[in-house]
Amino acid sequence: MRTLTLDRILQSQGFGSRKYCRDLISAGEVTIDGSIADDYRVAYVGPGLRFSLFDEEWLYREHVYIALNKPANFECSRKPSHHPGVLTLMPEQFTWRDVQPVGRLDLDTTGLLLMSDDGPFIHAQSSPKRHVPKLYRATTDTPVTPGLVAQLLAGVQLHDEPLPLAARSCQMVDANQIDIVLEQGKYHQVKRMLAAAGNHCVALQRTAIGALTLASLELDEGQWCYLEPEHLALLSAVTATASSASHGPG
Ligand code: URA
Repeated sequence: MRTLTLDRILQSQGFGSRKYCRDLISAGEVTIDGSIADDYRVAYVGPGLRFSLFDEEWLYREHVYIALNKPANFECSRKPSHHPGVLTLMPEQFTWRDVQPVGRLDLDTTGLLLMSDDGPFIHAQSSPKRHVPKLYRATTDTPVTPGLVAQLLAGVQLHDEPLPLAARSCQMVDANQIDIVLEQGKYHQVKRMLAAAGNHCVALQRTAIGALTLASLELDEGQWCYLEPEHLALLSAVTATASSASHGPG
């Protein structure tokens, strides 16, 4: 299996420049298997390697896949302008690793946001061709009616769109809340669809992507976790539906 010298391992994990990582190692800040590893030229197999830096434990990860429970008032853009970016909620190493949000949630939208430094994964997840279903819970200004549900299912015409856009499924939750599953990811799509159907979205939360539900991750707002292979499988294996995803797999 391919090995990497310790300085390259640290650098790949986002701990800084090669020179800085060498200095950390030479200063005795890195421990492997309980012993100080102060020779940056020693090579290790990356996958499975556990090390500690400044007494904090890390597992080598070739790429990181992350779920964040995005709070309102954090920007998803790479160069946030008026509000803090979502990366400020995570360790600095993720910025060094060039972790990016997979798609975007609006500034005021909360909920499940995927992030990664794996370009092909980001591309595949964001590709409109994949039709990854995403479940949103919208709070509406005026009560949800059977007519609203019917319109969203039948399709509504949005300005600038050639064809009407329909929800894949949608269900009333209570008087002013509705679950909507979309397969496309058009700009402000939920808000614009609700407006086109004669209502107004006052709050929006993304609660599932594919079969990966926010509830199953048990993250408070602003918290994040690594996604392991079993989570990633849920992104494409099963699809979210408006009727089941709020209680989705545990
Ligand atoms: N639809 C919206 O209107 N906003 C989002 O953030 C996501 C989907």
